[in-house]
Amino acid sequence: MEQEKYTQLWLNYKNAEGNGGIQDVEIRGFSPENRVIKSAVCELKDGVSKKLAVAITQDITVLREGYCLEGSNDRVEIKASDEKGVLYGAFALIRALSCGRNAETLSEKASPSNPLRMMNHWDNMDGSIERGYSGNSFFFANDDMIIDDRTRDYARLMASIGINGIVINNVNVKGTATYLITDRFFDKVKELSDIFADYGISLYLSLNFASPIELGGLDSCDPLDESVISWWKDKIKEVYNRLPGFGGFLVKADSEGRPGPFTYGRTQADGANMLADIIKTYGGIIIWRCFVYNCTQDWRDRKTDRARAGYDYFKPQDGYYHDNVILQIKNGPMDFQIREPISPLLGGLTRTNQMLEVQIAQEYTGHQIDLCYLIPLFKEVLGFHTYSGEEKDTVADYVSGRTMGNALGGMAAVINTGNDMNWTGNDLAAANLYGFGRLAYDTDLTAEQIAREWIAQTFGLDREHEDILADMLLRSREIYEKYTCPLGIGWMVYPGTHYGPSIDGYEYSRWGTYHRADHLGIGVDRSDKGTGYAQQYYEKNAVMYNDPEKCPEELLLFFHHIPYTWKLKTGKSLIQHIYDSHFEGYEETEGLADAWKKLKDVIPEDAFERVSERFKLQLENAREWRDQVNSYFYRKSGIEDEKSRMIY
Ligand code: GCU
Repeated sequence: MEQEKYTQLWLNYKNAEGNGGIQDVEIRGFSPENRVIKSAVCELKDGVSKKLAVAITQDITVLREGYCLEGSNDRVEIKASDEKGVLYGAFALIRALSCGRNAETLSEKASPSNPLRMMNHWDNMDGSIERGYSGNSFFFANDDMIIDDRTRDYARLMASIGINGIVINNVNVKGTATYLITDRFFDKVKELSDIFADYGISLYLSLNFASPIELGGLDSCDPLDESVISWWKDKIKEVYNRLPGFGGFLVKADSEGRPGPFTYGRTQADGANMLADIIKTYGGIIIWRCFVYNCTQDWRDRKTDRARAGYDYFKPQDGYYHDNVILQIKNGPMDFQIREPISPLLGGLTRTNQMLEVQIAQEYTGHQIDLCYLIPLFKEVLGFHTYSGEEKDTVADYVSGRTMGNALGGMAAVINTGNDMNWTGNDLAAANLYGFGRLAYDTDLTAEQIAREWIAQTFGLDREHEDILADMLLRSREIYEKYTCPLGIGWMVYPGTHYGPSIDGYEYSRWGTYHRADHLGIGVDRSDKGTGYAQQYYEKNAVMYNDPEKCPEELLLFFHHIPYTWKLKTGKSLIQHIYDSHFEGYEETEGLADAWKKLKDVIPEDAFERVSERFKLQLENAREWRDQVNSYFYRKSGIEDEKSRMIY
């Protein structure tokens, strides 16, 4: 048999036992020729192995992009008001059956929590992926685009978890990528967007704000300059002529060296609104990132606080953004660390469309070598009460549009895929890919439900083995946190690559990411006596974070500079906590690797071996973190470990 080029992840229909399947699908109310309906029918025929009669019925009482499944005697009816709902309903039926549910008794109703559920690729046109740990891009190579069987399978995978928008190129738009909105690439982008459209997905592009200069030969990209505006009018008209159904642009401006409106003394709103007003005619949107901060800070400067930057830049203009602009906000105020507080901009903005950005590419969480199931982290973010005074005050409420009653918002993930045969480098990292989509569609799902669904569809394990793997996933984030940076301080990683420990790696750098450890203590004072960051939250949270006695301990060092002798609620001193958690983190990683061995006979051999190799590397990484962190703080503080373990 020919070796597979890539796996089908959770859509591994070949694993389904053949038993008649679906012969025909009855369709009422929808055109069988509709491209999305056709895809749904195709999936049902391929994905359902049980002998089953399936009917698709249009029912306008079902919410948009929602579905209703009703089973009775060898028959299941999928009801939806629009074709995307049908497609999601079809995948939901396949999922329910793969998870061992009985078709006859199916009764399921769902509609998306978030209007936009997006994947952001950081793929470059030379084929590399910024922060990619799963091989090269499957969209681009050698400054050209790739469209092949994998493209369609990718779209199917994304639709199966409810994704409805995909940005195909890196937010850092440079060189050839600037030309994605020119004749050089329109035909291929159109071909790609047609494949996406078959699965209800809109294609989006990241934009180079300096395009009027780089493509148009103008000498400025000032958003208020008439010639710049007129250049964009022509360009966006051309884009929509060539790419009907195009979703819009994602923009990283004035961030980490990218061009933007600040160069011309304009605001972020000036930049976003200019593009939004033009694209509005075509139904498009502008997603504007809030990752704006000074990345050339002097480490000696203790006043400037990178954590403050997003709020300081964007809050004053709340309400100025036009209604087809969405501000895309990273979950934390820094940058995708294993533990950060929730960005105060989320829900801090009360008159602006907002969208949550998370990262399933494990840039700071183990590079898809270390096991780190991130859905528990995302659940914490979504469930965070802003205490804004609104009845619906969680982050999930704000980004979904429920609080303000706005139509645009949602969730985006920096994706963890590449052209590795298993898509995500570590086979177990596919749980994050799957999980993000499922969670964005239904934010009420628990991390455990999602883990179990993913396991059932990917590996089809019996209950005992499913329990083992689910437990591994659910504990993995906490374990990673234990052996890396303690109590919310973050960073301490190898500069540039961001894998492995380097305690002082960023301490004297320009990036605004400091731990401020000395011989007495560690942490950044962000209280009202320090940088004042804690005051960016609504009062209840501000009071809590401001006081080291009230601050949740897992974030203690993010908000306060704390002496090593400080007593934590466990009765342990801070330094003892650092030692203990690092020893435990390593031991628990050994526990993960041992648990994996118990699955040897039930996981396909190649996947089993791939993951086993990753655990070997994770153990080396955890050991390095443990010993470097413990030795560093032992040498700084001179305080012995109470348990006299080996510290170097
Ligand atoms: C991080 C990451 C960069 C990325 C940036 C962003 O800083 O290291 O590679 O470009 O985030 O989100 O734009």
